[in-house]
Amino acid sequence: MKILPISKSIASKIIFLIIVISTLQARAQNTYIPIESKDNAMVLQVSPEKYLNTVYYGNKLSDKNEYASIAQTYRINRTTSEYNSAYTSSGTTNLLEPAISVTHADGNKSLDLKYVDHTVTKINDDVNLVSIRLKDSVYDFEVTLNYQTYFNENVTEQWSVIKHHEKKDVVLNKYASANLYLQAGSYWLKHYHGDWAKEMRPEEEQLTHGIKILDSKLGARADLFQPPVFMVSLNKPAGEDNGEVLYGNLEWSGNFRIDLEVDPSNNLRLIAGINNYAAEYTLKPNVEFATPKFVYTLTDKGKGEASRNLQSWARKYKIVDGNGPRLTLLNNWESTYFNFNEDKLAAILKDTKTLGVDLFLLDDGWFGNKYPRNDDHAGLGDWEVNKTKLPDGIAFLTKTAREEGVKFGIWIEPEMVNPKSELYEKHPDWVVKQPQRPEYYMRNQLVLDLSNPKVQDFVYGIADNLFTKNPELAYIKWDCNSIMYNAYSAYETHQSNFYTDYVKGLYRVLDRLRAKYPKVPMMLCSGGGGRVDYGALQYFTEYWPSDNTEPLERIFIQWEYSYFYPALASSNHVTDWGKQPIKFRTDVAMMGKLGFDVVISKLKSEDLAFCQQAVNTYKQFSEAIWHGDQYRLQSPWDNDVASVMYVDSTKGSAIMFNYLINTRYGTGTHLPIRLKGLDPNKSYTVSEINLYPGNRSSVANATFTGKFLMTVGVNPDVNAGRTSVLIGVQEKK
Ligand code: DGJ
Repeated sequence: MKILPISKSIASKIIFLIIVISTLQARAQNTYIPIESKDNAMVLQVSPEKYLNTVYYGNKLSDKNEYASIAQTYRINRTTSEYNSAYTSSGTTNLLEPAISVTHADGNKSLDLKYVDHTVTKINDDVNLVSIRLKDSVYDFEVTLNYQTYFNENVTEQWSVIKHHEKKDVVLNKYASANLYLQAGSYWLKHYHGDWAKEMRPEEEQLTHGIKILDSKLGARADLFQPPVFMVSLNKPAGEDNGEVLYGNLEWSGNFRIDLEVDPSNNLRLIAGINNYAAEYTLKPNVEFATPKFVYTLTDKGKGEASRNLQSWARKYKIVDGNGPRLTLLNNWESTYFNFNEDKLAAILKDTKTLGVDLFLLDDGWFGNKYPRNDDHAGLGDWEVNKTKLPDGIAFLTKTAREEGVKFGIWIEPEMVNPKSELYEKHPDWVVKQPQRPEYYMRNQLVLDLSNPKVQDFVYGIADNLFTKNPELAYIKWDCNSIMYNAYSAYETHQSNFYTDYVKGLYRVLDRLRAKYPKVPMMLCSGGGGRVDYGALQYFTEYWPSDNTEPLERIFIQWEYSYFYPALASSNHVTDWGKQPIKFRTDVAMMGKLGFDVVISKLKSEDLAFCQQAVNTYKQFSEAIWHGDQYRLQSPWDNDVASVMYVDSTKGSAIMFNYLINTRYGTGTHLPIRLKGLDPNKSYTVSEINLYPGNRSSVANATFTGKFLMTVGVNPDVNAGRTSVLIGVQEKK
């Protein structure tokens, strides 16, 4: 057959028709954007009308083509498609809780975001970034949703970048980081409440229809009453080793808000972001506003697996030097408070050496001259060395530390000011307070206005000067003891930008510090655990979980933190709180980053010998505790004995911690406790370690297979006479 040549104009008409037909087909079809990790997939669908919806978040399917059948199988129809918006806008057809709501330059409050395009960027073999651009069809306003997945850890960080090109400023009335959608028969929320010295008290409840809000409004930190971490189990409360569960944490050290809404179709809409309470954000044209990241992980293997996902992600990608070592230390806060001088500190530096820890940490009270820091009423803000207490300056301490062969670290609280200070006298406009109202204090202090770049420079300078003038300074404890009352900034043009700009200002300071001092260990403290969140922890090596160091209390507090944070970041100090013997106190502190805050010179000789031995035992098992996998074996909440273990990455060395929680008559370990995470085929020698001098163990040294230890277990023989028992598990080669 002869094929007739066609004219150029007919050919171009055919090409045009093909384009039109395929465009129409594409319009009539859904497009799918799967966001996958090792085990999970979140499947986003672009509808024919260009709306971006979440149709699935769960176990990954082996055949990607089947993602297209999910929406139909879940019977997600036109009405419900508005409930599962991947970033719910407001003021048009959606009437459920929005992720974003705005007031345009002309005062109009409607927003209708539609899909424009998306990109997939491979950052490395483990990390992938999917960025999806959404735009309003009437206003020149757009949002990019970012999903950064950590493949092997099954962790996602999600955030939004908002910008507009309208003629004048736009006000963001709500601007969430993420808007997730989960489908299950029922939802069980575990969240936390607390107060000073009462951190991480859990509550678990079934979510009912309507909205449950977790939030805080404290300004200079996320937590006092409620931390920004939670978990949601699907269908039933997940167990340690079974059940579907999602963990979430907003990476933000200020006001947060998490909405959990069971919608009319019985699905769960989860919206997480900065709290919009008193914080409508005025955004200039052409300026990008990036929300904080919301990090989450999902598993169908229970709470233990979810926490190991987050812990290994945090060590690898978030906290500073997560794969590195940590410094054991002696702190002087509870042993001297503000009352010290050169002689006392020189003696403590000697004690640091005697104890065998790496570093001496000098706490509050070393500064202020016109208003000496002799208690918490004065001096905060005046960061010159107090000449009466330390006539030879910090140089005396670094020199003495060098002579003793230990390192030296120091406490600062750079964001705060006492009204009784030279700083307050010089810069009253740097202080957060209402100009026409009486001042109101927490711990006799006020917060500095970090939205002001001059204050940012000042705060940066405090830490930078210390490092520059004392190159041997090896550690900083960064404290923050007040929440924000009377939130008002003399610097801001738009007062309601202040809460958000404060935290952004703090991060700007910490970014600068970390650029210059990338690895120096820094502990983050906030009158206890007020700032334990991944927004802050990206700048720190460790955090202070609570001022409550009573060891029984600590077992519960550390247990709950461990769901979300790795052990090497938990600064645990042995103190004199409570009535437990030194062995119990030290064993509990060894479950994280070990430190001491006791008067070493007053310890009985056996107690000192025990502490010295404990420091050595700790070093021997530090690889498992710092970088290994953690397994919670028996909960303190519903057992007489609490038990936790850590296994190093080779599965060659493990340590098991056991504590008597219930002291009623006859309580103890009547049954063996099954170990976890070992290699079933390896042989392990099991023995009691860290015994108090002179005590003999009732646990015989013996060798077992990993299979035996994980099927039958070990009985640590915890009882009223043996309230704290540590078991070492070493591979027998
Ligand atoms: C509160 C901290 O939690 C304590 O450890 C101590 O550093 C004090 N601040 C010092 O003022």
